[in-house]
Amino acid sequence: MSPSKDDGGPQLTFKRLHPTFGVEVEGMDWTQSPVPKTLLDEIITAINREGVLVFRNANLNNEEHVAFSQQLAGHQDLYDVKAHIKAGRAMRFPEQPEIFDVSNLDNNGNIVTEADPMRKEGNKGNFLWHADMAYNPHRALYSLLRAVELPPKSSGGETQYLDSRTACEELPEDLKKEINGLITHNSLMHNRKLGSPEYFKSVEPLDAPMAKYQLVTPHEGSGRDNLYLTTYAHHLDGRSWEDSKPLFDRLWNHLTQEKYVLTVYWENNGDLVMWDNTATLHRATDTGSYGGKYVRDMRRTTTKDTSRYRFGENEDHSWEAGISKVKTEGEH
Ligand SMILES: [Fe+2]
Repeated sequence: MSPSKDDGGPQLTFKRLHPTFGVEVEGMDWTQSPVPKTLLDEIITAINREGVLVFRNANLNNEEHVAFSQQLAGHQDLYDVKAHIKAGRAMRFPEQPEIFDVSNLDNNGNIVTEADPMRKEGNKGNFLWHADMAYNPHRALYSLLRAVELPPKSSGGETQYLDSRTACEELPEDLKKEINGLITHNSLMHNRKLGSPEYFKSVEPLDAPMAKYQLVTPHEGSGRDNLYLTTYAHHLDGRSWEDSKPLFDRLWNHLTQEKYVLTVYWENNGDLVMWDNTATLHRATDTGSYGGKYVRDMRRTTTKDTSRYRFGENEDHSWEAGISKVKTEGEH
């Protein structure tokens, strides 16, 4: 029997996108705001299991997007939805500071070109595997990314996800033992430098505080171990960057195997993708052929982690990382 809204049974059905994680969600009724508790419970159960949920044609506006995110955050007993308020640039939506603007548009709605190198070069860090806000001492739980206006089909802009829980479970035994109890130090600027070494060459990640997390952190929602390694990881506790790199490289070789990767294609304006940053990694793909030519208006909210692992190994969790101002010639 197919699920029905009226019989009190489950309302949602799922279409598998990858053998081990990620589903497209069907049967979601977005006309009800707030989303009823039973439906919210179904969504939480699904995200705990799958790590990535794709809602086609959700067609939320800014207010609904924020309201749903706040419900998710509230569901976890902590009403705390926060955007990257120190993103280093003004957002297009001053009325909704929770909305993080990940479009290719400037504040006047024009397509970003070479004229804004900080933004263009900084964005290259997003093409590397990461979990949102792993560089902050209070890490993120859910991200909700919504397509408002997509470029023409097949012009790029897919989002890729990586099943870091399955990858963790499938680590070779010797590697598993070797990383047991290790702690990473994480820096936003390290990722930005990896993405655009020349542009950020004068930036020294060690000049700013770093967030510390266990390399293997259990995922509270599923009880499974998760390899919480992102391209924000600069070094291991007690080791230099140089001494940490060989182990990071071995872990990246394992993690980034094709079998752990899911590519989500944005199909329609109004699509919404929700993911769990404490159970998956993700990355933007290169701007393909739309860059500089077509509008790609994407907007994101992020809820903070509410699990017992939310602060990692950070005693002071009151600060947030920001993009350092890059010194260019003539600047002091
Ligand atoms: Fe991201």
